[in-house]
Amino acid sequence: RPASLSTLEALRDFIGDCNRCKLSEGRTHLVFGEGSPRATLVFVGEGPGRDEDAEGRPFVGEAGKLLTKIIEKGMGLRRKDVYICNVVKCRPPKNRVPERDEIESCLPFLKKQLEIIRPGVICALGLTAAQSLLGRPFTMGRERGTWVSFQDIPMMPTYHPAYLLRNPSAKRQVWEDVQKVMKLMNLEVRKE
Ligand code: URA
Repeated sequence: RPASLSTLEALRDFIGDCNRCKLSEGRTHLVFGEGSPRATLVFVGEGPGRDEDAEGRPFVGEAGKLLTKIIEKGMGLRRKDVYICNVVKCRPPKNRVPERDEIESCLPFLKKQLEIIRPGVICALGLTAAQSLLGRPFTMGRERGTWVSFQDIPMMPTYHPAYLLRNPSAKRQVWEDVQKVMKLMNLEVRKE
């Protein structure tokens, strides 16, 4: 486990041309994460999809466009001022859910990113992010929209934007969860 890395750049260099798990076999780009190292809010997704693998950047496909809209139109922030990353840094084949051994290989790097940034709040997008950071089983239907924590940092689990693309009626619940994050950050919640 990388212990003494103090910057995101140093962590990225440490990860290098990674072959620690089998996801490296199918990837085009390792998607480390992007945004401000001084971000007070970090969004954590599951893993890169096709567009992210092609570009080497997180959340740039359809789900990413929706996340960007939530950040910019919903929260009134700029995407570059938050930090966005994933549990696994390489695309799983056919976008399957990352397997236990893949998560185990990559999770220390996500944890290190969060320890370096030390945000005031984390938003976990989807089940994989929530249960990986919590280190316990998690039920989205029962626990989304409730405050949990990762190493004393308040964390809000909510539905993944890809889920919202398939289930648009869940957008209202995500907006409620995002408003809780905004209140914690002292951001103004404007009327719709
Ligand atoms: N879905 C994710 O979980 N992460 C991305 O970066 C893109 C889509």
